[in-house]
Amino acid sequence: MQRSEISKQEAKILFRDNTYKIMSKKEKNIDQLEKKIKTELDNFTRELETVKNLIELDKIRTKYIGKKSFLIKTLKNIGDLPDDIKPIAGKKSNTARNKIESDILKKEKIFKNIEYKNKLRKESIDLSLPGRSTGTGRKNIISQVVEEIEEIFIGMGFEIAEGPEVETDYYNFEALNTPRDHPARSLHDTFFISENILLRTHTSPVQIRYMESHKPPLLIIVPGKVYRRDYDVSHTPMFTQIEGLVIDKGINFGNLKWTLETFAHEIFGKDRKVRFRPHYFPFTEPSAEVDVSCNICGGKGCRVCSGSGWLEILGAGMVDPNLYSFVGYNPEEVSGFAFGMGIERICMLRYGIDDLRLFFENDLRFINQF
Ligand code: PHE
Repeated sequence: MQRSEISKQEAKILFRDNTYKIMSKKEKNIDQLEKKIKTELDNFTRELETVKNLIELDKIRTKYIGKKSFLIKTLKNIGDLPDDIKPIAGKKSNTARNKIESDILKKEKIFKNIEYKNKLRKESIDLSLPGRSTGTGRKNIISQVVEEIEEIFIGMGFEIAEGPEVETDYYNFEALNTPRDHPARSLHDTFFISENILLRTHTSPVQIRYMESHKPPLLIIVPGKVYRRDYDVSHTPMFTQIEGLVIDKGINFGNLKWTLETFAHEIFGKDRKVRFRPHYFPFTEPSAEVDVSCNICGGKGCRVCSGSGWLEILGAGMVDPNLYSFVGYNPEEVSGFAFGMGIERICMLRYGIDDLRLFFENDLRFINQF
């Protein structure tokens, strides 16, 4: 072993970080460094034995080869040592550091392995457990009934047409025989966007749009959303309608009756009676409201049918010949009928739902029943 004396000055440098206690003034040689390294190693080995997990392991890593550890500081300050000590100090410190490092790595591997195995054990799947099922989505009841009604009319030869929900005053009212001063306008509680633009209050404007762009014969149904400023048990600001329109040569009220009776029997059942009650709509003449017999009381009268024995399901009538002048049809040549129904109302009657607002509240307890 090479021994070397160091000057006071040099010892001071070595002392700088207070890590070189060993290099006290009276022991100015490499022996002391070696002893200190050996002590470090012994302490380390002893402590490593007691380490129980990765966190503890990390602590001794910091203690023995962390930035502030004796070994690392020695290595960092090696340049300040006298030339004859440098190589030995460097070599000894490095060897010690490497040993500590590799011992820690070995230990780390063992701990990681244990940890991994524990994790596997915890995460292992119990194949005997029953699966957790996720809810199945399905169509909203309104869409289901719209599709069912579409099927019924498609079966009778109808086609499906659509129109815009943001409509002009002209199509929603004017061309449907409802000029500005017409009292029927006040029944609609319209959402106006500007003086002439509005949210359609019914699907009837599509009658005009379709007639404008098609020549008879035509048989269409028009499903869609409509809007009215209303909110209570039987009104919501948005609801769904299906419009029907048939135009051809020689269409009469008998055709209208047969079509709507057939529809009512399909959707509510063959045992239900259907009646046509005179009514008024600006765009049909004559007009009727169509009722089916109440299924709750069998026609005797109850709370649901307000004692009448009948439930109103739709509005209908022969297309007022006045409308043909708006679309360029000749009223001498063609005639037709139209009808319109609220889908939510049909659903309410069919399933005994007493509050229209339920359709739009998205309560799963309600939705999941259909
Ligand atoms: N559009 C009418 C309404 O919303 C219903 C209707 C349509 C009546 C077609 C007659 C003919 O009340």
